[in-house]
Amino acid sequence: MKGMILAGGKGTRLHPLTKVVNKHLIPIGKYPMIYYPIFKLREADITEILITTNHQDLPLFRKLLGDGKNLGVRIHYKIQQQAVGIPDAILLSKSFVGNDKFTVILGDNIFQDSLIPYVQSYQNQTIGAKVLLKNVPDPTRYGIATFDKTHKNILFIEEKPTNPISNYCVTGIYMYDTKIFEFIKQITPSSRGELEITDVNNLYLQNSKLTFDVLSHWWVDAGTYEAIFEANQFTFNNDILSLTEKGCDL
Ligand code: DAU
Repeated sequence: MKGMILAGGKGTRLHPLTKVVNKHLIPIGKYPMIYYPIFKLREADITEILITTNHQDLPLFRKLLGDGKNLGVRIHYKIQQQAVGIPDAILLSKSFVGNDKFTVILGDNIFQDSLIPYVQSYQNQTIGAKVLLKNVPDPTRYGIATFDKTHKNILFIEEKPTNPISNYCVTGIYMYDTKIFEFIKQITPSSRGELEITDVNNLYLQNSKLTFDVLSHWWVDAGTYEAIFEANQFTFNNDILSLTEKGCDL
C-alpha cells in the first residue's frame, strides 16, 4: 500500500495566515501541519509517500522533509500546476501508485484514530474504495453521506449540501484502487469550478464498491481559523503522534 498527501490548494480562506506560508506548513502544536498525515501513514506501515503541492512551495517542503529518511519514510514529490481540485492532484499519483492500492490524506485533516485497522480491512477488500466518516456538527462544510435504511450502505454523497440529510462527513482520508484513474477521467468541474472528490466517490458507489468506517476519536479539517485553534488546543493537550517515543530525528 502506498500513501499520498495533498498539500496544495489556494489557501485563500486563511489569508493573511497563508499568504506567504503554505497552509500545511503552519504550526499545529509542536509540529508543522504536514507532520500529522505523514506520521499517521507511517504508523500504518505506509512508508512510500507522495506529496503534491504547488510549484512555489515545493522547495519549502523539500527543505523541511527532504527524502523523509529522518522521519522513517520515503517521500516523493510532484507539482500540481493549478489548484483545480482534489482529483486533479490524485491523478498525479498514477505512475507512483503503479498497480498498488493507496491511502490518500488531505493535508489539512488532523486526527487521533490510528489508520491501522482501516488499512488492514481495506487490504482484505478485493475491489473498490473505502472512505472514513465522522459525525460532525457542521455538515454544510463537507461531503455528506446519505445511507440506506440499514445504515450499512452509503447511497450517495453530496458535496457541501445546503440541507444536509445526515451529519456523517466523508473525511479527507480515502483508500483507492487503480480504478480511480478511470473515474477521474469521467468527471467534469462542479459549479465552484473544481473537480470534486465527491463525484469520484459517487462513481465508485455506482460502478464499483465504496465501503466505509466511522472514526471514533477526534478529527478536524484545519481549513478555518477556528479549526486551526481547535487543532492547536487538542494537539497541545494530547500528544497524538508521540514522535519523541518513536525515535525520530526531527
Ligand atoms: O476535509 C474533508 C473535506 O475535504 C471533504 O468532506 C470534502 O468532500 C472535500 O471536498 C474536501 O473539502 P474542502 O472544501 O475542505 O477541500 P479544500 O479545498 O480545503 O482542500 C482540501 C485539501 O486538499 C487541502 O489540504 C488543500 C488540498 N488541495 C485542494 C485542492 C482543491 C490540493 O492539494 N489541491 C487542490 O487542487
